[in-house]
Amino acid sequence: MVEFEIGKWGVIAMGITVAAAAISVFFWWRESKRAASRIEDLESSLNSFSQEVKSERRGRIRAQQDLRKALLDQERVSANGESKACAYPFVPIAVVDSCFDTRNGTPRQPLLVPHARACLVLNRSRVPLHTLEGLAEFSHCWILFVFHLNTDLDKLWKYRGRTKKAKVRVPRLKGQKLGVLATRSPHRPCPIGLSVAKVEAVDGHTVLLSGVDLVDGTPVLDIKPYLPSDCIPEATLPKWLQGDNPLAVASVNFSSDFKSSLDNCWEIAMEHSLYACQDEFQTLIKQVLSWDIRSISQQRNPHHLIADIRNEIKNINDGSDDDDCTYINSRKNNVTYSPGDNTYHVDLEGFDVSYKIDDDSNITVENISLCPDFLTRRKGRRICSAAWRSNNG
Ligand SMILES: *[C@@H]1O[C@H](CO)[C@@H](O)[C@H](O)[C@H]1NC(C)=O
Ligand SMILES: *[C@@H]1O[C@H](CO)[C@@H](O)[C@H](O)[C@H]1NC(C)=O
Ligand SMILES: *[C@@H]1O[C@H](CO)[C@@H](O)[C@H](O)[C@H]1NC(C)=O
Ligand SMILES: *[C@@H]1O[C@H](CO)[C@@H](O)[C@H](O)[C@H]1NC(C)=O
Ligand SMILES: *[C@@H]1O[C@H](CO)[C@@H](O)[C@H](O)[C@H]1NC(C)=O
Repeated sequence: MVEFEIGKWGVIAMGITVAAAAISVFFWWRESKRAASRIEDLESSLNSFSQEVKSERRGRIRAQQDLRKALLDQERVSANGESKACAYPFVPIAVVDSCFDTRNGTPRQPLLVPHARACLVLNRSRVPLHTLEGLAEFSHCWILFVFHLNTDLDKLWKYRGRTKKAKVRVPRLKGQKLGVLATRSPHRPCPIGLSVAKVEAVDGHTVLLSGVDLVDGTPVLDIKPYLPSDCIPEATLPKWLQGDNPLAVASVNFSSDFKSSLDNCWEIAMEHSLYACQDEFQTLIKQVLSWDIRSISQQRNPHHLIADIRNEIKNINDGSDDDDCTYINSRKNNVTYSPGDNTYHVDLEGFDVSYKIDDDSNITVENISLCPDFLTRRKGRRICSAAWRSNNG
């Protein structure tokens, strides 16, 4: 009886245990089913969300493409009219403050004139200062710029998309013509220049550069670090670029009066100069004139110098007063030259440097004076000059 009782209670207890287990299994089953369906729900909602994102992305890309096309269309329409709207929204990020006042005298290649100095002044309302962070740790940088002094820029607007000038005269080939894209001529279908320079320092929003071949006021589109792997050692050149540069002159010497002339103007020029002392500046002159910087017409026709200069001024200037100094000099020199008396001028840092070149291409630097508009020209350059001087000091 007792045993039965125990057995009975045992059965009951077992039943309860089984029931509890069954109930808990049921709950576990229900719970896990709920979790599974929740996961399923989440998965499907994630799925549909990513579908949405994908289609949104597709839509966004399509909208962007449509916008670009519309901008291009608009530009195409307005290219015939007056508007100069631009489909590619590039604006210069910086301007070059350089020792080369005019195109004449600006080296034809980078690093040819190691003393050629410039400051690249970042436009802070377009790009933040931090964009320059880390640049100073590179020895050299690439510079992409606009050939802003090209006299045919207006034709670019007019005949956009159609290149008129396919071949250009090459100074190294004594004026022989080559396809423009096989040269570094500034007169290109897209007048964009590529240069390399030595990074001397980064000072606030200015980058101090040397070895530049950039004329003062050059708008800069981009700066990129130069990597040693950018050099291709096995790169080869066409014949006309092999051998010594025929534009190298035999010698550059200074006249006996030169030093005292430089003394006379240095005091005024000093605080505007990128050069700490006269000797440094004189080295710049020597390096610049070590390459025949004359235009092809000047080289060909040295005895018609004045006419050449006048033509060049007409070409360069087109009404702007950028090259006033050259103009004044040519007027000042409006005298009859005897054949062989070939005085040329180059503007550097607001100085007018005059020199002669003989038939053996020996150069004598004759004289130096401040351009009459020196102060207006060098106005606002003090930040750059001070940056250079503190870099030297
Ligand atoms: C700097 O950028 C501003 C804003 O785009 C522009 O108005 C100004 O002319 C630029 N300054 C220079 C020197 O280019
Ligand atoms: C110019 O200077 C060089 C040394 O750099 C000298 O050999 C040459 O004779 C000089 N020429 C003239 C014309 O003074
Ligand atoms: C240069 O001289 C000629 C004749 O002496 C004169 O006719 C001409 O106007 C002068 N040119 C300039 C720019 O002074
Ligand atoms: C020109 O330079 C060459 C090479 O430096 C030299 O041999 C020659 O004597 C120089 N001519 C004159 C006229 O100074
Ligand atoms: C050099 O230029 C200055 C300023 O134009 C002038 O006064 C001087 O006479 C010139 N010297 C020579 C030797 O031509």
